[in-house]
Amino acid sequence: MARLQGKRALVTGGTSGIGLETARQFIAEGARVAVTGSSDASLAQARAVLGPDALVLKSDAGDVAAQASLAASVADAFGGLDILFVNAGVGDFRPLEAWDEPGFDRSFAINLKGPLFLVQALLPHLANPASIVLNGSVNARIGMPNSIVYAATKAALISTARTLSGELIGRGVRVNVVSPGPIATPIYDKLGLGEADLDGMKRAILDQLPVGRFGEPAEVAAAVVHLASDESRFTVGSELVIDGGMTNL
Ligand SMILES: NC(=O)c1ccc[n+]([C@@H]2O[C@H](COP(=O)([O-])OP(=O)(O)OC[C@H]3O[C@@H](n4cnc5c(N)ncnc54)[C@H](OP(=O)(O)O)[C@@H]3O)[C@@H](O)[C@H]2O)c1
Repeated sequence: MARLQGKRALVTGGTSGIGLETARQFIAEGARVAVTGSSDASLAQARAVLGPDALVLKSDAGDVAAQASLAASVADAFGGLDILFVNAGVGDFRPLEAWDEPGFDRSFAINLKGPLFLVQALLPHLANPASIVLNGSVNARIGMPNSIVYAATKAALISTARTLSGELIGRGVRVNVVSPGPIATPIYDKLGLGEADLDGMKRAILDQLPVGRFGEPAEVAAAVVHLASDESRFTVGSELVIDGGMTNL
């Protein structure tokens, strides 16, 4: 299929997990794609998976000044942008007693502040029509222990999507959210847990999943392709929950 033929897309955090698979599906649907990541290893992985036509950029999603540079690079390369998937994010899970200010600030910088200023920096370059999809999380809707800061960043991001929807629809820019439940990606290996604790966490999550398994990145990416494409042109300010029934059953 070629539902994104001729479209120009940016995927932040498009070097691993959900973002990488979404970038792959965007390309398969005919889009020109730029992705960002922060580590050399993930950037190399993206180059290998996405091929030479993808623009692979090192850009720190938590750095406000970097958002302006990123917007300028994408505008230079593509001349404008039709699709933005704001996906880069970190999961930092700790009990309340273990939180400190730098950790709190880092989560909010990457998951909320950077995304907001990226949309601001890209505004002059967005086509009409354009589609922005933000990656939220079911953690914004449930009280999972140790997720206090992560859940708060995602709740704020989802709220931001709704506000941006109202503010940008007059420019032909649709804003929607995907809120995944547990998806099998490298994010869990980055939590800093030992093997036993990680296994215990995954078992506890599985117990809450009516479908009996974690989701796959491709199952979220397919929804992002739909929201990015013109086939969803009447979908505005929505949150699509993709969680194997975790929050609704
Ligand atoms: N997996 C889940 O269960 C799940 C559920 C709900 C929501 N989500 C959300 O889905 C999004 C993608 O997560 P994932 O599960 O696919 O995790 P992942 O495999 O760890 O991918 C995260 C991506 O974000 C990038 N990233 C992280 N910090 C960055 C920074 N400071 N600057 C630039 N890029 C940065 C990573 O690149 P580097 O490695 O180079 O930093 C990577 O490309 C996140 O927003 C996450 O909160 C995930």
